[in-house]
Amino acid sequence: MEYTSTVTQQTTANTSIDDRFLQDVVAGLTSTPKHLESKYFYDAQGDKIFQELMNCEEYYPTNCEMEIFTSQTAEICKAIIADGDAFDLIELGAGDATKSTQLLKYLIDNEADFTYLPIDISDNVISYLNITLPVTLPGIKIEGLNGEYFDMLKKAAAISNKRKVVMFLGSNIGNMQVADAEGFCKELRNNLSTGDMVLIGVDLKKNPATVLAAYNDSEGITKRFNINLLERINRELGGDFNTRQFDHYAMYDPETGSCKSYLISLADQEVKIGQEIISFQKDEYIYMEISQKYAVEQVNEMAGKSGFKPLDRFFDNKKWFVDAVWTAE
Ligand code: AVJ
Repeated sequence: MEYTSTVTQQTTANTSIDDRFLQDVVAGLTSTPKHLESKYFYDAQGDKIFQELMNCEEYYPTNCEMEIFTSQTAEICKAIIADGDAFDLIELGAGDATKSTQLLKYLIDNEADFTYLPIDISDNVISYLNITLPVTLPGIKIEGLNGEYFDMLKKAAAISNKRKVVMFLGSNIGNMQVADAEGFCKELRNNLSTGDMVLIGVDLKKNPATVLAAYNDSEGITKRFNINLLERINRELGGDFNTRQFDHYAMYDPETGSCKSYLISLADQEVKIGQEIISFQKDEYIYMEISQKYAVEQVNEMAGKSGFKPLDRFFDNKKWFVDAVWTAE
């Protein structure tokens, strides 16, 4: 999908985070078709709703990956520890680190020599991890980094020249279209050295009804998760969205494996955001998010195309999800 934007993006170093949010929102909502970036879902409120989602019956990816991490902890850690040299364990989009905590605990118990560097776009998440992990995991060496993935990855690389193991879990890669995911893996490879590793969690293609239910849950948590971004715009950018005038629509295409979320305008309406007035037609959509699903073979292909070699992989019982270990070639 191509987006045309009427707003030029500013990337000067002194652009504040709020300005950036405003610019991205206005750019997205003045484009055809309208869209918002899913990375903005995660303010304190969004983090909370995502927690609820992860505990919801229909949202299966968390449970699948948790099963992998609890039932195959030793095997996964063995792959990561490799020759036993010291390493930096970087996690992109750490969230509450529930899954990685399984690995961290095992690594500490087995006296692996590592520093944990969680990276997250949510400052809320990073301050939480910096405070709580040393309590739940005594002896852990942790340095939380708040910011965009590659900015923080560069920062992490500057901290030490130890071997890097990068975790990218929870099918966060699914938030990119396939071509962008490939680009992302290439950029990841460019930020690593030969012998560094990646542990990547990928949600797999499965019964379409199962996938759709996860993004269209019966309690409406996913709807609240999407609507929260409009509320965030109201809170932080002085927007005046009437969120009752929007409904959530999710669709899954079993052919391409793409699961997409939209907010649909229920009326002709105008919304003020800062100085901008945005017009919505009745039934017009805002494209909110993609959660791409992959075939197992596609995961190996992606490794090869981006300069990695598939080393190992771990499935849940139902084979709904895979955690793959790649080495940088
Ligand atoms: C956190 C990106 C993996 O796409 O499955 C969950 C986010 N969105 N329900 C996903 C999400 C709607 C989630 N990721």
